[in-house]
Amino acid sequence: MKYSSALTGSLAHNWFNDNLYITSLLNAFSIALPLGEKLFMKSVNEHVNLTSDAQLKSDIKMFISQEAAHSKAHNTYNEQLCLLKGYDKNKLEKNFNSVFNYMNKTSPKERLACTVTMEHITAILSYLFLSIPREELSIESSIYEFWACHAREEIEHKSVAFDLYMSVYDDRSTLQEVMKNTLKNLISLYKITSCQMLTLDRIPVAPFKQWLVTNTENTKTIYHKFESMINEFYNPDFHPLNINTTNCSYKLT
Ligand SMILES: [Fe+2]
Ligand SMILES: [Fe+2]
Repeated sequence: MKYSSALTGSLAHNWFNDNLYITSLLNAFSIALPLGEKLFMKSVNEHVNLTSDAQLKSDIKMFISQEAAHSKAHNTYNEQLCLLKGYDKNKLEKNFNSVFNYMNKTSPKERLACTVTMEHITAILSYLFLSIPREELSIESSIYEFWACHAREEIEHKSVAFDLYMSVYDDRSTLQEVMKNTLKNLISLYKITSCQMLTLDRIPVAPFKQWLVTNTENTKTIYHKFESMINEFYNPDFHPLNINTTNCSYKLT
């Protein structure tokens, strides 16, 4: 699968269906990606010699090459976004940096466990994004393709970190503990970064915070799908290849 990273659409406006809040959340997600993907590559790389499984080694190679391409492309995306909107990229990265710097100082096992949980969250978000029929999305095609290509590759390599972790440590209880913390921290960091962006755009953040907790029929459905796929992670026989995506109309071919 080829990752298309050419952006010709403008990130200056509310590019996701002219929705200010969803656009801010996705932009905040992008700010974290190059930093997170660096950690994912490091954590997988430092375990590659601990497996003798030839297929897994080859999957790891694909994983690292895809994450390296995503990291580079999102860095360009973030630079363009900050330039167009007048944001200070270093300031937006600061909170994510402190978390990823902390992760760099933990044990290789914790780092890989953190990667496994983030890969699961990313795979779920990818399914949810791709499950929205294209005709319902008013997004310039280069921006849509940028995110869709990333999402397809996340689904393609969703089990690599998990398989590596299980082949080396085979410890699900640590994974489940790490998932609880990762989810809590990520949600809070995306919220903080979105608020930072809105404040820089001189937009009040109180209605955004209210919007996050207001359950419209649409958000209820998305939260429900997200939650049920997150909960699968806690099943004793969980494997990323068996995520139940029947709620998502998108099917991986
Ligand atoms: Fe990625
Ligand atoms: Fe990934």
